[in-house]
Amino acid sequence: MFTRLQSFCLLLSLLVCSNTVAQNNTALGTPPWQMASGWPDRIIQNFSDDPARTITVTWRTDSSVQNTLAQIALATPDARFDAAAGSIAAVTEPVYLSSAMIDGVSLASPDNMGLGVVHYHSAVFRDLEPDTLYAYRVQGADGAWSEWYQTRTAAESGPVKFVYFGDAQNGILSHWSRVVRAAFMRAPDARFFLHAGDLVNRAARDFEWAEWFKAGGFVHGSVPAVVVVGNHEVQSYGIGDRTSERVLTHLWRPQFTLPVDNSLPLSLHETVYDVRYNEDVHLFVLNSLSREFELQGQWLDRKLEETDARWRIVTMHYPIFSSAEGRDSASRRDALLPILNKHRVDLVLQGHDHTYARGAIGQSPERMATGEGNGVEVMFVNSVSGAKMYPLKPDGWDGYAEHGVRLQRAAENTAFYQVISIEDSQLVYEAYTADDQLYDYFEMVKGANGLKSLSRGERQTIDARQFLTTGDYANAPPLP
Ligand SMILES: [Fe+2]
Repeated sequence: MFTRLQSFCLLLSLLVCSNTVAQNNTALGTPPWQMASGWPDRIIQNFSDDPARTITVTWRTDSSVQNTLAQIALATPDARFDAAAGSIAAVTEPVYLSSAMIDGVSLASPDNMGLGVVHYHSAVFRDLEPDTLYAYRVQGADGAWSEWYQTRTAAESGPVKFVYFGDAQNGILSHWSRVVRAAFMRAPDARFFLHAGDLVNRAARDFEWAEWFKAGGFVHGSVPAVVVVGNHEVQSYGIGDRTSERVLTHLWRPQFTLPVDNSLPLSLHETVYDVRYNEDVHLFVLNSLSREFELQGQWLDRKLEETDARWRIVTMHYPIFSSAEGRDSASRRDALLPILNKHRVDLVLQGHDHTYARGAIGQSPERMATGEGNGVEVMFVNSVSGAKMYPLKPDGWDGYAEHGVRLQRAAENTAFYQVISIEDSQLVYEAYTADDQLYDYFEMVKGANGLKSLSRGERQTIDARQFLTTGDYANAPPLP
């Protein structure tokens, strides 16, 4: 039998050992870019309010920083544009990395054992001018300022370009970094980056978020992120028989600053929200992991009824039409598809299946007979930006024929980013591989009567990619 001291030593050594493994899978210990300090890091922009008149930023420091500031100035050609900068106080909240309060009980977050408390800070710059280039910076300890980040507020009307990513999830720093950076290099004028869930693999694991923030680097602070909850953003807390149900990671709300819709229950705040980007573009973000999808459906129905935006885009993690075997989600489809169809949502951007699949629900013959348009009602995309891949369902979306959906383009073994450009009545969609080849493309034109026509245009895309036609995925080294 172990003495109490021996038991304690054994437990301690297990914790130390699991700490090393949990944080970076190597014997090197916690990397410096994961550790919080008095300097601001993990700087990210989100939308929390009107994108034309606000800039929202969140950042992290160690727990020594109790009160701090953010500054903003007009970005001008003047070398010292910052002479006219104004300051606002940050809102600060502590985050205990190695434990979380779940239903009023403190439960362990075993992946973060040994990590202490960090502080997340946020600031919302208000009363800004639309379509104006600003520079902002954020502070940690007194005098520990970030660099100045330039960012443009939304124009109230006019063209909008954005980038959409499916799951990053695995090999975030080693592999996903090339995708997010390729996307920024192709579309530096993107007005936001949309991440459709499973940004990381283990939701509460600080090390993985450290990778996500390092992979995107200054882009996270320069281009606002619209973030969606995936199944890997929820997990259980605790050890042994004191384990909670799977809940949203305790890191989600502190490290992002997202819209709060008070018509929704607290449990959905900052996971179900909408962003009216400008006159033409309205985004609706759903939480696939909440069991309250009937309620989300009602919310979405009401929001779509109310909006007068020309282009309506819905994003969620679980696809309405699955493209990988054994991952169908009929109950969610039953709750949401009638609403997407009713409002003829233009694009539904999703992740989760680690494949690429894009296709549309066509117009009914009656609708076709009413005027222009060549048969598209709702366009669905499942995409993946990380390196984990699943096989495509052999029959594609044939099993969903009763819903009138037709698969138009698919891929395996390929990480993508998508660039979506909207101007007046035209939406241009481009899916690129990480080495910048065009894989999928369409143009959608919406008439004054709301009918949409689709064309492939003249642009060349590369050949279809499947496991059979690409590299030896099965024998590749495991992802970090
Ligand atoms: Fe997923």
